[in-house]
Amino acid sequence: MSERKILVTSALPYANGSIHLGHLVEYIQTDIWVRFMKMQGHTIHYVCADDTHGTPVMLRAEKEGVTPEALIARVHSEHFNDFKGFHVHFDNYYTTHSAETRHYSEDIYSKLKQAGLISMRGVEQLYDPVKNMFLPDRFVKGECPKCSAKDQYGDSCEVCGAAYAPTDLINPRSAVSGAVPVKKSSDHFFFSLSDNRCVDFLRRWTREADHLQPEAANKMHEWLGEAGENKLSDWDISRDAPYFGFEIPDVPGKYFYVWLDAPVGYMGSFKNLCEQTQLDFDEFWKKGSTTELYHFIGKDILYFHALFWPAMLEHAGYRTPTKIFSHGFLTVNGEKMSKSRGTFITAASFLEQGLNPEWLRYYYAAKLNGSMEDVDLNLEDFVVRVNSDLVGKYVNIASRCAGFIAKRFGGRLVDGADYQLMQQLVDERFGSWRPAAIEKAFEDRDFSAAVRMVMKCADEANEMIHALAPWEIAKNPDRDKELQRVCSLGIQLFYILSRYLKPILPETVKQIESFLNCAPLNWPKLTEQQSVSHLLLPADHTINTYQHLMVRVDTKKIEAMVAANKQSFAPATEVHSPARHAEKQQHIHTPVAETITIDDFNRIDLRVAKIINAEHVEGANKLLKLTLDIGSEQRTVFAGIKSAYDPAQLKGRMTIMVANLAPRQMKFGMSEGMVLAASSGEAGGGLFILSPDEGAQPGMRVK
Ligand code: 2FM
Ligand code: ZN
Repeated sequence: MSERKILVTSALPYANGSIHLGHLVEYIQTDIWVRFMKMQGHTIHYVCADDTHGTPVMLRAEKEGVTPEALIARVHSEHFNDFKGFHVHFDNYYTTHSAETRHYSEDIYSKLKQAGLISMRGVEQLYDPVKNMFLPDRFVKGECPKCSAKDQYGDSCEVCGAAYAPTDLINPRSAVSGAVPVKKSSDHFFFSLSDNRCVDFLRRWTREADHLQPEAANKMHEWLGEAGENKLSDWDISRDAPYFGFEIPDVPGKYFYVWLDAPVGYMGSFKNLCEQTQLDFDEFWKKGSTTELYHFIGKDILYFHALFWPAMLEHAGYRTPTKIFSHGFLTVNGEKMSKSRGTFITAASFLEQGLNPEWLRYYYAAKLNGSMEDVDLNLEDFVVRVNSDLVGKYVNIASRCAGFIAKRFGGRLVDGADYQLMQQLVDERFGSWRPAAIEKAFEDRDFSAAVRMVMKCADEANEMIHALAPWEIAKNPDRDKELQRVCSLGIQLFYILSRYLKPILPETVKQIESFLNCAPLNWPKLTEQQSVSHLLLPADHTINTYQHLMVRVDTKKIEAMVAANKQSFAPATEVHSPARHAEKQQHIHTPVAETITIDDFNRIDLRVAKIINAEHVEGANKLLKLTLDIGSEQRTVFAGIKSAYDPAQLKGRMTIMVANLAPRQMKFGMSEGMVLAASSGEAGGGLFILSPDEGAQPGMRVK
């Protein structure tokens, strides 16, 4: 395999909050992959930075009475230490508030402008007349227009899940000053994503090479629509002062939206690394570059990375990403992380309890399979798994054998004929330990498969040690040679496993390298002819004294960590949301369908219907069975709304149905019509059945 040149990034964390265990899924995943690739001998650079711009940072600084620059400097050092604490090793951890990121943001913007891909138009938004600022959706609060719940954000209701525009809120208030916001228009700049050049490019880009995982490619297909369709809207890339960010050249008072310069921060951080080293920026970023570029991200920001970012790069004359690796969210004990339950766990609090960061690295590795599925951190399972796998299986191999080697043989492992015999035995008995399958799993980011294979090997090693029972042999001084052979074999097997676990447990393996008195472990590249015994420590090798490598997880520390996280958060008094996206991302608007005549419309008989019964349907994943009263008769309708409604909520509600739809025989019975519901068409985008205004009676026609 020839050496590859690779640039890797993880998403840039916002500079207005702490790193928590949810963030760490991504950084640990990336770090393991990068370490593995480095062990293979590739030239690989891992860069990241703080994402420093935007309204939330500006307001938080104001609230703390410091400048945004002071705030981001403080958070930068906190983030840096958190990552270091979990052994996430960046080649450069920079900031988007940098000359380099400004330079490339301006460069990309001006090239897009030259290409005719920037336009300007007026946008009406809510404005705080006291603070004299436009309000991002999350900074407007009021009553939910759907369920009337109080104190809801301007984009969605946390009680009923409805999504809406901030202008729909009842009694809206600015979350910044408490003032009643007013509507105001201002000019914004847009990146013309709906331009055919972008749409055509993105279609090609998704199809051409596997830039995306299959689930992500499907999403792209959904976003882009069929050939000939144009479902993309232009992207609003400017914000008005006051804003913390980069002012757009020659347009005083207008700033680049934080999401425009955030991914450019990848370039900024790398450029900064190039300035400190001999690296050539252009080699990695110029169009046609033969180097590889990988972005690790969460699935919530796929839209930015798979649409906006490649389209921006392509049309500004840069290379586009080789692959985008998306992962799912973290749940804790099967649920969303929660501040009140204490499961919104900060990285710092984990370390403060004296918990070993490599336990979490191992646990995440055991769960990550390279897909976009969510990862669950079950705290009980965490304790069991770490104690049984790492302490009970892996470290146990060394602790059972090392003492005898040190005490009885001065640290010397077997040599000569005994060494050859051991090589033979290893090849016969442990031939399946060859690294190829584990290597493939690491490369594919299927760390859970790698961990499974390594733990199977650890089981085999333990079975063998158990069967040979060195502690019994040791009782008889005449069996010294045998004892040295058995324990040397145990140590040699431990040595092989340590190599395989090094990307996940870098610090422990560093200690092991010193205990085993060996050079830093790299990833073996065995030829077809080379067998596992090729991976052993050389004959006549001497190891150092064994020091205890890892303790068991103490459940009390886990409990203390959860308690600490409960205490450290006051009830919802924060101005802005803890959500990852304080600034709402753009939604895709499905284009309006082709024009019909009023006669076409009149052919649909829409009726007000009362839901007199709603129930689950056994064996159906999506359907609820509704009994509807339309005045003159009752109808049974199977509606695909199970994901959004509990049947009990629906009973007694009024809705609208299509009454003259041909009955349809379904697996579960005959469906006699259809209930109307709104949806974004995106998975997780919600589903909302329609209701008539108060006073409407069952059977009334809707026109
Ligand atoms: O979602 C987030 O946390 C963003 N700060 C990620 C930015 S990634 C990249 F585009 F900079
Ligand atoms: Zn609501």
